[in-house]
Amino acid sequence: MGARNTVLVIGAGVAGLSVALAAAKRGFTVFVLHRSPRSRCNSAWAQGGVAAAVGKGDSPRQHAQDTCAAGRGLNDPRAVLQLTQQAEEALEQANLLDVFVHAQDGSLQLGQEAAHRHPRILHAPGGLTGQALMARLWEQVDAQPRIRWIAGRAVRLLIDDRGCQGAWVVPEGETMAQPILAAQTVLATGGFAGLYAHSTNPAETNGEGLALAYEAGATLADLEFVQFHPTAYLPPDGSQPLLLSEALRGAGAILIDAQGQRILAGHPQGELAGRDVVAQAVWQAEHGPQATQVFLSLERVPKARVFEAFGGLAEQLTRYGYDLAEDPVPIAPVAHFTMGGVCTDRWGRTNVPALWAVGEVACTGVHGANRLASNSLLEGLVFGQTLAAALTEREPATAAMGERPQVPPSIDRIRVPQLAVALEEKAGIVRDEDHLAQWEEDLSSGTFDANLPAAPLLLLAAAARWRTESRGAHLRRDFPDANPAWRGHIYHQRDLGSWFAPLYPQTRPVTLGRADTRQLHHERGSYAWA
Ligand code: SIN
Repeated sequence: MGARNTVLVIGAGVAGLSVALAAAKRGFTVFVLHRSPRSRCNSAWAQGGVAAAVGKGDSPRQHAQDTCAAGRGLNDPRAVLQLTQQAEEALEQANLLDVFVHAQDGSLQLGQEAAHRHPRILHAPGGLTGQALMARLWEQVDAQPRIRWIAGRAVRLLIDDRGCQGAWVVPEGETMAQPILAAQTVLATGGFAGLYAHSTNPAETNGEGLALAYEAGATLADLEFVQFHPTAYLPPDGSQPLLLSEALRGAGAILIDAQGQRILAGHPQGELAGRDVVAQAVWQAEHGPQATQVFLSLERVPKARVFEAFGGLAEQLTRYGYDLAEDPVPIAPVAHFTMGGVCTDRWGRTNVPALWAVGEVACTGVHGANRLASNSLLEGLVFGQTLAAALTEREPATAAMGERPQVPPSIDRIRVPQLAVALEEKAGIVRDEDHLAQWEEDLSSGTFDANLPAAPLLLLAAAARWRTESRGAHLRRDFPDANPAWRGHIYHQRDLGSWFAPLYPQTRPVTLGRADTRQLHHERGSYAWA
């Protein structure tokens, strides 16, 4: 290990496997690190499809415009165009086009989802898109002799003055960390929406990749933007929320209150308004002065279509006594996706040499303040392939590895449920100064577990407090309007603190201060800044 052409990919969702496959084709030897089982991964759970502007009258430019409109002024248009222009080619490169449902004439069948002006969503049969995509990618990985899968978890990146040299890794079933040296290291660990008490993500989507990157000196951005999906069914036994895909609303499902009134009747786009708008409307209806349960109703969708397009979901709902075609299903917004992450350029490079990031853990600026539906699997594919094409060989590490790190506890909503509940209450879909300040206080005082790698959560709180406006997924009840002065990004770096960089030309960055994560870890004396 440690040869010139070795790549360590941490994480094995659609982004990680795309990098691995494309890098292996280019002659790199790739180690893919992922916990088992393989299926406990956000990408495999995705129902939403893959957006691609391949229909008549559609174009990548229009897809880009819709993406930017959803992102509420914070997208990087160059990254967005890269995403939309490379969509079809990326699917072809990854041998995925035949996974999707085709119409009788052989063309790809295109579904409609919120805030897309054209039908442009590709789905696998039964709506189980993530599962089908991941199965196809794993098939290719397993057939590729240059890729080796290691079951385990990374607990610290190996950093020296030449950059990232790999990671300390704990193989599954073992308790001691071991070094894996690599010429290039890629973080593809997903976001942190799985930390919320109610989330569409597996509990493993816990922001550990962000914590590793921050500790290694990488810059993070946009952490305050956490997307809530408007329509999840919460099983009464408290088990994993069931995502009722946006594709249902694309097919004609409506949102009604307990009296049968449509809650979005007054909105020009109705149920197909942006995800931020719909999620916030559902939350207001359920928590506002006339609090009412909100339901998703498929009364306007032909029954045959329900079973043809959403068979997998319909079957899952029968377990809870609902007939998707007939019964209004009670729904609530739950945490779904994190727009922020480790800052990268459009090829996936971070500010730490030889450390890359891709997919949800990365922040390329492609999603702005609110991701457009069905752009996330696409992001993993397109940016994964672009990243692999930019990888270069590099002298193997020679640096001392430093002391073997202690293994930090895993932070997740199952292991630390009180943290998950407090996160949702204090830094959830609707925020205000008092709750955010309490959340910061809870974290800094070690209320939950002093050793948790909680830096990204502290930075989320700090950024959400600093951003005194509402924009996209960030809704402040004490500052309900968007403020043009906040059109820009909040960045964080371990050694520099946090700053705001407006998008206006010739405007200087503003130093915001420091959310003292360094002190947090030093005081608790655990795994951080050795
Ligand atoms: C969904 O199916 O509604 C989720 C799709 C997505 O997150 O893009």
